[in-house]
Amino acid sequence: MNASPLSPAQPQSGQPQTGQQQGSTLYGGVTNRRVTVRDLAAAKQRGERWAMLTAYDALTGGVFDEAGIPVLLVGDSAGNCHLGYETTVPVTMDQMVMLSAAVVRGTKRALIIGDMPFGSYQESPAQAMHNAARLMKEAGVGAVKLEGGERSARSIELLVEAGIPVMAHIGLTPQSVHAFGGYPVQGRGDEAAHQLLRDAKAVQQAGAFSVVLEAVPAELATQVTEQLAIPTVGIGAGAGTDAQVLVWTDMAGMTAGRVPKFVKQYADLRAVLGDAAREFATEVGAGTFPAPEHTFK
Ligand code: KIV
Repeated sequence: MNASPLSPAQPQSGQPQTGQQQGSTLYGGVTNRRVTVRDLAAAKQRGERWAMLTAYDALTGGVFDEAGIPVLLVGDSAGNCHLGYETTVPVTMDQMVMLSAAVVRGTKRALIIGDMPFGSYQESPAQAMHNAARLMKEAGVGAVKLEGGERSARSIELLVEAGIPVMAHIGLTPQSVHAFGGYPVQGRGDEAAHQLLRDAKAVQQAGAFSVVLEAVPAELATQVTEQLAIPTVGIGAGAGTDAQVLVWTDMAGMTAGRVPKFVKQYADLRAVLGDAAREFATEVGAGTFPAPEHTFK
């Protein structure tokens, strides 16, 4: 059975799914194409929640794809989580194109979303169009993400008109870290809550297929989710959103030091990798590696 690009994923019988999430029609359905933004819209209709992770390279992207994560974001969090910067601000378009292309190459099923870095879209809708097209053409992503609500609505409209699916990002927008003076929770108090709701409605009206709500009170995120027809993706926004995203290095315990309150660490990869590296060095020092089974005769 071939999937129509216009129809939501339908379960196929008799085909075991690698990494299929329990009860996930979104990922565990049609297996011969990538998840699309239409599938995400249909998931909201069904009330099906989904998970999104960041990925910055082909290898980890492939692991998450096989694990059944339906949507992977090549986030500009690559700045602090992959490239060694302190914030996302220095990340460039060339870097995002390179990282996004790697994740696309390493995956088969997931929808890959390329993040638009600081300075790549704020100047004008035309600048946003130019750089979003680079992510689509040079990296092969299926959608782009950009920060901002009302202030980004014109750019979103232009991209959507041009056939580029856009995920918006409101609440705490990390590219504004210097204006915020850090990473404070957003949407607290009546005026801020109303602004968040206006931002959410503005990006939906502009044609965004989904919106990330970052670091906002859970009750407000739930209200936004109930009032929008498009899926909301929460990070530090409580359990009431349609989907959840985490930065993979936080989720898997690779991040050094403190992680934000909203992060759950599902593994301790930093310890596992560190132990493996130390054991390797010890065995090299002791002359026990390579052993005969690792040696050509
Ligand atoms: O860049 C990123 O990883 C993000 C997510 C935190 C939503 O924007």
